[in-house]
Amino acid sequence: MVHVALAGRATQGDGQLIVQLDFDLNGKVTVVTGASSGIGTAIARRFAAAGSRIVLAARREAKLHELAESLRADGVEALPCATDVTDYRQVEALMDAAVRQFGQVDILVNNAGNALAKTVAESTPDDFDFQIDVNLKGVCYGCRAVLPHMIERRQGQIINLGSICSVRHFPNYAAYVAAKWGVLGFSRSLYEEVRTHGIRVNVLCPAAVNTPWAELAGSELPWPREERLQPEDLAEMALLCVAAPRRVQIESIIAWPMCEPTV
Ligand SMILES: NC(=O)c1ccc[n+]([C@@H]2O[C@H](COP(=O)([O-])OP(=O)(O)OC[C@H]3O[C@@H](n4cnc5c(N)ncnc54)[C@H](OP(=O)(O)O)[C@@H]3O)[C@@H](O)[C@H]2O)c1
Repeated sequence: MVHVALAGRATQGDGQLIVQLDFDLNGKVTVVTGASSGIGTAIARRFAAAGSRIVLAARREAKLHELAESLRADGVEALPCATDVTDYRQVEALMDAAVRQFGQVDILVNNAGNALAKTVAESTPDDFDFQIDVNLKGVCYGCRAVLPHMIERRQGQIINLGSICSVRHFPNYAAYVAAKWGVLGFSRSLYEEVRTHGIRVNVLCPAAVNTPWAELAGSELPWPREERLQPEDLAEMALLCVAAPRRVQIESIIAWPMCEPTV
C-alpha cells in the first residue's frame, strides 16, 4: 500500500521543481527504462528517495552501475540491468531479473526514447525503424513483459513517456510523432484491458525538457536550458501519478515550460 500524504512544497521561481510531493514508496519496486540519462535518471533518483527499490535499465551499462552505486551510497537497493528495449527477450529478462532480485514489480516506467530530426523525404527505412522500435515497440514490450506479473498480483502501475508529440504534430519529426501518438493510443487501450485488474496506466507528455535528447536527435531547441522543464519536474509528475488515490486514474499529463508558446 503506498502511503500518500498530499502535502506539497511549491518551489516556483527557482526554475527547478514546480512542486515537491511527499510520498512513501517503502516496500515498492520500480523498474525504470532509459535510466542512464535525463528524465529516467531523475525518476529513478526521485522514486528511490521516496523509498522504492529501483531496477535501472538502459544500454549503457557503465552509466547504470554509476547510478546504482550512487543510490546504494544513500542506502537504496538498486539493480542495474543492461537492456535494449527494442529486443523483447532482453525486456523479458529485465522483468525476470527484477522479480528474482526483489520478488515483485510494482511500478514500471517505460521512459527509453530517441529521435532523429529529419524530413520524411530524407529518412531511410532504418530511420523509421529506429524511432518506432524504441519509442513505441519498446513501450509495448515493457508492458507485455510485466503484465502477467501485475495481473497475478492484481496491482501495478505503468507510466509511459509520451511527449507533446503525442498530441501535436511537428515537421521533421514525423516518425517520432507517429511513435508518440502511438504510445498514447496504446496506453489508453491497455488501461481499458487492465483496470479491472487494479492496474493503472499513465502517459507523461512533456514539451521541451532539459536533457541531451534534442542534441542526440540532431537539433537544438530554441529555449534556454534553464527555462525548459527540468528532468526533476517530470519525476514529480510521475510520482503524482503513483500517489493519486487508488480510485484515480490520471490518463495523461501534458506539461509545457512557460517559455514555450502552447499554440
Ligand atoms: N527531452 C525532451 O524534450 C523530451 C520531451 C518529450 C518527451 N521526451 C521523452 O522522454 C524520454 C526520456 O528522454 P530524455 O529527454 O531523458 O532523453 P535522454 O537524456 O537522451 O535519455 C534517453 C534514455 O533512453 C535510453 N535509450 C535509448 N534507446 C534505448 C534502447 N534501445 N534501449 C534502452 N534504453 C534506450 C538512453 O539510454 P542508453 O543510451 O544508455 O540506452 C537514455 O537513458 C524519451 O522517451 C523521450 O522521447 C523527451
